[in-house]
Amino acid sequence: MLKHLRTTATAAALLVSGTLLIGAGTAAAHPGKPGHGKPDPGTPLRVAADRAHVKFGTAVNTTALADDATYRRITAQQFSSVTAENVMKWETLQPQRGVYDFTEADRLVAFARAHGQSVRGHTLLWHNQLPAWLTEGLADGSIDAAELRGILRDHITTVVRHFKGKLYQWDVVNEVFEEDGSYRNSIWLEKLGPGYIADAFRWAREADPNVKLFFNDYNVEGVNAKSTAYYGLAKQLKARGVRVDGFGIQGHLSTQYGFPGDVGANLKRFADLGLQTAFTEVDVRVPLPADPAKLATQADYYRGLLSACLGSRSCTSFTVWGFADQYSWVPGVFDGEGAACLYDESYRTKPAFDALRAELRQGRH
Ligand code: G3I
Repeated sequence: MLKHLRTTATAAALLVSGTLLIGAGTAAAHPGKPGHGKPDPGTPLRVAADRAHVKFGTAVNTTALADDATYRRITAQQFSSVTAENVMKWETLQPQRGVYDFTEADRLVAFARAHGQSVRGHTLLWHNQLPAWLTEGLADGSIDAAELRGILRDHITTVVRHFKGKLYQWDVVNEVFEEDGSYRNSIWLEKLGPGYIADAFRWAREADPNVKLFFNDYNVEGVNAKSTAYYGLAKQLKARGVRVDGFGIQGHLSTQYGFPGDVGANLKRFADLGLQTAFTEVDVRVPLPADPAKLATQADYYRGLLSACLGSRSCTSFTVWGFADQYSWVPGVFDGEGAACLYDESYRTKPAFDALRAELRQGRH
């Protein structure tokens, strides 16, 4: 399914015998006015981001977090927000019907807490990474539509309650539109009709009135049929009293396609509707092998998205979908493309890393 992703602490960061300690205190959150002062050359992204009043996040591979000390150190040092790359999805959280397993997800939340990081929840409803008991039960007819609705309600309620007070945003529905703006054909649409989207937001809201509830999708950076479908739905839901708080733009880009147009205008129209926005899964793949020219273009693309975020008051966070090439999902899905992250496989930073930090230093504009 992803083949068509086309467009596409602060001073208290101490490295003590391999363990990075970051001051979790909020006193470090806004040390100066945006754009003022000159951070040291080695300033972590999260410190520059604090000064620009935006969260700077990464998706986290929890296996790497457990096994790879360098990965762990960089996760703590550079990022002020984390998203579970996989372990808050259905197949992990509800591996058997009615049996929930929060072990891995709770470990990530504990790590984030220990390092003064915020957590984005991903995701309460998707058509991928569903547990076998669910897909098989639907396929053989042992689970019918009415039951499916109950299962969805139970999952959202249980999961949102479990993390209540610990997350700042949830991707409530992920990738629910096709490229042409029609509803994505999924088990959810097929069995429940499009009303499942409003239901998902209502149930999540009931379970935690404070966490911000988001749409999330790819190929919605600019103004196009798909992003317009979200815009229309957000308006419609608002008119019906169903509150949606935010629009998450994944930002999976490839340098072989042009940089998406109208990103600023797109953010603005959602902001005008009263929604927050966020870049939630940014990476920029290049045709392999990478070379300096391709990495320079990659840096421009990363910087372009961050600049749009910093140009909109509505934009709360900028999250990269992993930071180290050896753990990236990209090469497994896109033949001949890769090198999509801010660090290479030996943990050397790329020009994109410097470009993002330079952009953060400019602050909001
Ligand atoms: O958990 C199994 C493990 O038990 C097994 O041994 C191993 C063998 O391949 O597979 C493991 O599952 C993998 C899973 O990631 C956890 O590591 C799947 O094969 C693999 O397909 C899965 O890929 C994830 C993908 O979503 C699934 O569609 C990627 O890591 C993850 O980066 C990616 O993330 C999505 C976002 O959630 C939504 N937006 C697009 C984005 C990129 O595809």
